[in-house]
Amino acid sequence: MTTTPTTPADGLTRRRLLGTAGTAAVAGAAALAPVAPASATTPGRTASRDRRVEQLLRRMTRQEKIGQLRLANTVESAEEALTTTGLGGIFSVVGARAINAIQRKAVEGTRLGIPLIVGLDVIHGYTTNFPIPLGQAAAFDADVAADDARVSAAEARRSGIHWTFAPMMDVCHEPRWGRIAEGNGEDPYLTTVLAAVKTKAYQGSSLASATSVAACAKHLAAYGAPEGGRDYNTVDVSIQRLHNLYLPPFKAAVEAGAATVMTSFNTIAGVPAHGNADLVRGVLKDRYRFEGFVVSDYTGVQELIPHGQAADGRDAAREGIRAGVDMEMTSTTYVENAAALLASGAITQRQLDDAVRRILRVKLDLGLFEEPYVDEAGEVTAPTAATRRSARSAAARSLVLLRNEGDVLPIPRTGRIAVIGPLATATYDLNGTWAGLGTGASTTPPTTVLAAIEALATGTVVHEPGCDVSGRGTGGIDAAVAAARAADVAVLVLGEDATMSGEAAARSDIGLPGVQQRLAEAVAEAQPSTVAVLVNGRPLTLTALAAAVPAILEAWAPGLEGGRAIADAVFGATNPGGKLPVSFPRSVGQVPLYYNHENTGRPYDPDNKFTSKYLDVEDGPLYPFGHGLSYTTFEVSDVRLSRATMSRRGGSVSVSAVVRNTGRVAGDEVVQLYVRDPVASIVQPVRRLRGFERVRLEPGVRRRVTFELTPGDVGFYDGDARWRVERGEIEVYVGTSSQAPLAGSFTVR
Ligand code: BGC
Repeated sequence: MTTTPTTPADGLTRRRLLGTAGTAAVAGAAALAPVAPASATTPGRTASRDRRVEQLLRRMTRQEKIGQLRLANTVESAEEALTTTGLGGIFSVVGARAINAIQRKAVEGTRLGIPLIVGLDVIHGYTTNFPIPLGQAAAFDADVAADDARVSAAEARRSGIHWTFAPMMDVCHEPRWGRIAEGNGEDPYLTTVLAAVKTKAYQGSSLASATSVAACAKHLAAYGAPEGGRDYNTVDVSIQRLHNLYLPPFKAAVEAGAATVMTSFNTIAGVPAHGNADLVRGVLKDRYRFEGFVVSDYTGVQELIPHGQAADGRDAAREGIRAGVDMEMTSTTYVENAAALLASGAITQRQLDDAVRRILRVKLDLGLFEEPYVDEAGEVTAPTAATRRSARSAAARSLVLLRNEGDVLPIPRTGRIAVIGPLATATYDLNGTWAGLGTGASTTPPTTVLAAIEALATGTVVHEPGCDVSGRGTGGIDAAVAAARAADVAVLVLGEDATMSGEAAARSDIGLPGVQQRLAEAVAEAQPSTVAVLVNGRPLTLTALAAAVPAILEAWAPGLEGGRAIADAVFGATNPGGKLPVSFPRSVGQVPLYYNHENTGRPYDPDNKFTSKYLDVEDGPLYPFGHGLSYTTFEVSDVRLSRATMSRRGGSVSVSAVVRNTGRVAGDEVVQLYVRDPVASIVQPVRRLRGFERVRLEPGVRRRVTFELTPGDVGFYDGDARWRVERGEIEVYVGTSSQAPLAGSFTVR
């Protein structure tokens, strides 16, 4: 059962992104929830840690303090920094030996011997690649996210990495944006649940453990809303949407103890996040009581210059430090300018000490002063059987069966199978963006879909690529058609290569790249039993593909064991049970298109021209949020609400429903609970996910699933960022996608 992931808080201040409201009482407002310190330390340990931080601070020179704010990205720049400006950490350097060597220079070669913190983008694996985070979200199963985080943390820490720049928790309504691959899709609730779970799993019960890494909640904030889907682009968002849509995962990550937070490249209402005191000091540090440190995103502080908030490096450093960005990644405006800024009074000693204090706290929590070095013999250089099993299970659970007309999937292992398409022989492309940067990752190619199918098939398997991923050449299509015609079934493996999603990988057209659609149509015409498997990092427009082929299995970028997980599902050894964490539009012109939208005053009505719609495309998505089929069928029935009313001050209503496997094979269904507040002081989304549970059922078996709703599930932040729980009716929808039917309602009193 899934319950509300965060306690809404109402810390009122006068800052802008917090709202301008004064102290007016807000009905049903919860007190500001106390937030856990930066790691799971006991109070006694926290006090002794803080004493050590203060002792150190007293011994540090001004320059030694400023040096802690610098994060270098190469061994050369780190070595230079250690003898000149000072250095707080290093990132993107892998290999236990190299890490120990640079650490030795910090610990043994500097006056105070303060160890470096060593960071890396361990986004969905270090050596063992799991599915991309968007795929993990499709599992609708927090254990998948937790497994990735635990395996990643252990592999990374054993190899000398203390800190991962993950989890990424940018809620996103923009499929053109390549970085949608790195997050959990369009829903704040799902993202919040997974952000908290992942943060805890990376950090374990103690950051000092040999299998834990410090997490970094990124990117603060609203980076997933770039205009036009173009990376780094402007974001303009209302206060209510910022707090209801984009910030909840960050609040949850802080409450889960996230050691660090990374600011985002974008502006919000004209102010870049790296120079945004309202956001970083106001929301994160004051309102959420975040005690860890904030790191810039790469050269984000220096980028205040082209943004137009700073004239030069000195200005940029001033704005960044004032905003509360504690550590500067790659660029060096802090170390170059902080001393002069202090001398002139443009920044204060308190601001500098606060930043250093936060960084030292995390280093102490990580146990770096006790154990700065990593045991080189323990470095992880290859996946193990156990980590492969976890990755395979994660990939299997991420699969979403979008379409299966005539039950063409699963296919028999016998007979002649034509495996067609440019991604059938993909290796590293199966890992997707931000593939593991760990030592063994680049020498461990994932098993291809073709090889995995060959391993399971008992008949004949033939292969034709048909075309490239993105080239225009059609020369291979005839051979593919001939192979399909001669076979009993064709499996098309189509989609995007790993470079087509991720950072700086926006696409204006989110259809199948190149001539893949032509290939699919030609093959499907020759072979009616054609199934398409998709490998991709974002929602695609699949209207034409769905018209051409009877079955589509969405595999995302499924990671190291993805090929095998796909083959298992294609043959029915496993049964897909994932659901879409993001809407798939019919056409890119519909974007942004998301299930949790607000109604207009003229909601879509097919019989009325003067309602909100397009003339040239059918209404709504091709596949909605929460959609996903199975090789069996399920029925959700007998929805019961425990009460007809909920008190705004701490009441609850439990909602339960029976889910039954009505088909002939075992399978998973994700029961989903949505709410809607039909009349509110701020127009509310037509649906909001507030609970989900993935259940596995044998044929004919039923189970009752129960969700608990509290005021935290039905309230919202208003235009002044105040938490409100309003009186009135709340509609409840329970089912198997965001198009679940109305199941009942209760009244908030
Ligand atoms: C990305 C971050 C990443 C950082 C360090 C930036 O370009 O936006 O997400 O953590 O690089 O590699």
